[in-house]
Amino acid sequence: MQRIWIADIGKYENQEIEIAGWLFNIRSKGKIHFLQLRDGTGRLQGVAVNGECDSASFEILNSIKMEASIKVHGTVKKDERAPTGYELAVSGIILVQNPDKDYPIAKKEHGIDFLLENRHLWLRSTRPGAILRIRNQAIITLRNFFNSRNYVLIDTPIITGSIGENPSTLFSISYFDLGDAYLAQTGQLYLEAACMAFGKVYNFGPTFRAEKSKTRRHLTEFWMLEAEVAYLDNEGNMQLQEDMICTLAEDILKLCDQELKILDRDNAKLKKITPPFPKVDYNDAVSSLQKKSHPIQWGDDLGAEDETVLSGQHEKPVFIMNYPKKAKAFYMKENPDNPDTVLCSDLLAPEGYGEIIGGSQREDDYQKLLSRIHEENLPEEAYTWYKELREYGSVPHSGFGIGLERTVTWLCGIRHVREAIPFPRTISRLYP
Ligand code: 4AD
Ligand code: MG
Repeated sequence: MQRIWIADIGKYENQEIEIAGWLFNIRSKGKIHFLQLRDGTGRLQGVAVNGECDSASFEILNSIKMEASIKVHGTVKKDERAPTGYELAVSGIILVQNPDKDYPIAKKEHGIDFLLENRHLWLRSTRPGAILRIRNQAIITLRNFFNSRNYVLIDTPIITGSIGENPSTLFSISYFDLGDAYLAQTGQLYLEAACMAFGKVYNFGPTFRAEKSKTRRHLTEFWMLEAEVAYLDNEGNMQLQEDMICTLAEDILKLCDQELKILDRDNAKLKKITPPFPKVDYNDAVSSLQKKSHPIQWGDDLGAEDETVLSGQHEKPVFIMNYPKKAKAFYMKENPDNPDTVLCSDLLAPEGYGEIIGGSQREDDYQKLLSRIHEENLPEEAYTWYKELREYGSVPHSGFGIGLERTVTWLCGIRHVREAIPFPRTISRLYP
């Protein structure tokens, strides 16, 4: 007998097949058991009628527990009322393992802490399933986007000697005789080297920030896709981000319809993600926040509250451009029109989600870069190789990093980033 996946059930109408999976619900009415089966690719109702199903199998169902692993065989029947359009008329069951205990995740509402503590089991439920499938699609779409534009994938190191973003949020590890090393906060500096070799490059991997923030936007381990392009200016950089985000929203709408439904996502909001995205200068953003009595001063980076307000003002993602130099990382290029600011942009997702992308043109002038390294008190020796990129054929270049979990959180319309990654790492969570 052929073993099939539930997702392919439509090809097997009236055929005798086997499903290998788990039981996630059972209702019994006298001589009939209605079993809800899942195999990871989908869900299916099996109907076991005493007499039509062999009696040993029928007996198993009288004492079966939730999440027992079972193999079920039977005939695929069309059924208009079933969500998949099919039902299984069960002829026999093989019990693989029956739990001795009740499954901890029940139908009733559980608190988020309980669910996160049981993340290894919670993954089996409908909601995490939908979110993580959308994440999977987002990864595929992002990779395809760059691959189809002939970018070269460059895997940047996770153990690094130089500080990429912010010295105060480094995870350090002791590295043999060489002293302290750090877990990568970004692969950007290495991508800058690679773009001088390959023209246009990207990476996609885990990054680490020892951020003591307990917000719904912060993880200590998150995935970031970064792109870097030689001879690209900040305007071109924003154009690239806009194209990427529109492609992403389009693909998720097209390919994750079922998942968006499960999450009750308002698709109309995602359909509005079309070019062009609004662009707001940092100065104007600050004035508008001050008018709303936000405590922000010119020179401050935008806080989570500020971003929520700004991103709530637009139906599309909005670029906030040209931040003050002192609020941003050392590598950003000084703005020739106002040297107190840099040529950069953060992209804020709509509906109050806030920053999902940080990007900038990079400082390509050797002396200016060196002064910034000094101003920020960064250890100059660690940046020798990085400075050399400005000595051997320096060119204008730009790039950005998109945070996967924040983006997925927005696409899914959920509240917190911790649900957008299989096993979240936050300052208060290292288990499971
Ligand atoms: O703005 P960030 O810090 O930019 C960089 O790391 C640049 N080196 C990228 C580049 O230009 N190549 O981080 C980029 C994005 C943010 O916009 C956000 O989406 C995400 O990474 N991010 C986080 N996501 C979850 N938890 C955190 N603690 C995050 N910190 C940043
Ligand atoms: Mg940022």
